[in-house]
Amino acid sequence: MSIDKTHKKIAIHKLVNENGISIDFQNLGGIISSIKTPDRNGKLSDIILGFEAPNQYLEEHPYFGAIVGRFANRIAHGKFTLEGKEYSLAQNNGTNHLHGGLSGFDKVFWEVEPLENENGIQISYTSKDGEEGYPGNLSITVDYVLTDDNTLKVKYQAHTDKTTVINLTQHSYFNLSGDFSNQILDHELLLNADQYLPLDDTQIPLGNYQSVVGTPFDFSTPKTIGKDIGAKDRQLKIGNGYDHCWVINNPNNEIVKAAQVFHPDSGRTMDVYTDQPGMQLYTANFLDNTLPSKTGGTYGPRSGFCLETQHFPNAPNEPIFPTTILKPGDMFASETWFQFSVK
Ligand code: BGC
Repeated sequence: MSIDKTHKKIAIHKLVNENGISIDFQNLGGIISSIKTPDRNGKLSDIILGFEAPNQYLEEHPYFGAIVGRFANRIAHGKFTLEGKEYSLAQNNGTNHLHGGLSGFDKVFWEVEPLENENGIQISYTSKDGEEGYPGNLSITVDYVLTDDNTLKVKYQAHTDKTTVINLTQHSYFNLSGDFSNQILDHELLLNADQYLPLDDTQIPLGNYQSVVGTPFDFSTPKTIGKDIGAKDRQLKIGNGYDHCWVINNPNNEIVKAAQVFHPDSGRTMDVYTDQPGMQLYTANFLDNTLPSKTGGTYGPRSGFCLETQHFPNAPNEPIFPTTILKPGDMFASETWFQFSVK
């Protein structure tokens, strides 16, 4: 963990829409530190895990709300080869590389500008050639837009001056109950995916696509996150729960509805749309009640879930996975939308 704390101060930017939904963003890590949405009775609550005090984001935490890159999730042994050259990255998760390294995009200060024609902000960052071991000066912008149909749109763009790899995601932890002492096991989840990526013991994909049919990984019709999470299953044991990437049904690489989550008690619903091939569902398996919660107490296992739209983990070392290579002259462009409603 290394944040240059002397450099800049955390600044908070707020977006509000005509229905009273509000979202707070930080220049540090592009972190979303609050999303307030109404329940079915109109009561607003914060549905994002994080901290009350902004300075707490300068300390160790599990990527709460952050933009993750240059490569989200794991790269086996922190090594990959590109155009005949081997690159070595930090092994910051056992022997693997996780979420961009020791000082990934979650730990840097981004420039923030308001967007001119939309209710939004644009954050930008240039990752230097060699930063965290990755080749190429990579310039990234992320637009955060809040629309009046209650959608948070996250639009990524990037370009490089040397061939590199890129995989960006938004790492917010949601709990639609708005009370983080409640586990998320009662949330009903639908994933638009017939296959997922099974993992080895170090959480690197084995390299095959596995059908979800007849497994605890089948969310192709809605079921609660808790229904099968305790099943006797080798893959669930490896992740200590769900910590896997689903292969979104999206043959034409369009923006499709990839997930829907419904919390029966509050009525809150969230639909996730994306053009990315993968969706990492992480059920906060490694939260261990050491970090203070915004609603009192501490964050425990299953106190939130992440739906991380992304390319597949370890893609630089798996030729059958969709490519994550970005070349000079090409533009990386991707969108993910989180739409909030009540039922
Ligand atoms: C990963 C988990 C990891 C977590 C860190 C998730 O995206 O899939 O394995 O522990 O991030 O907070």
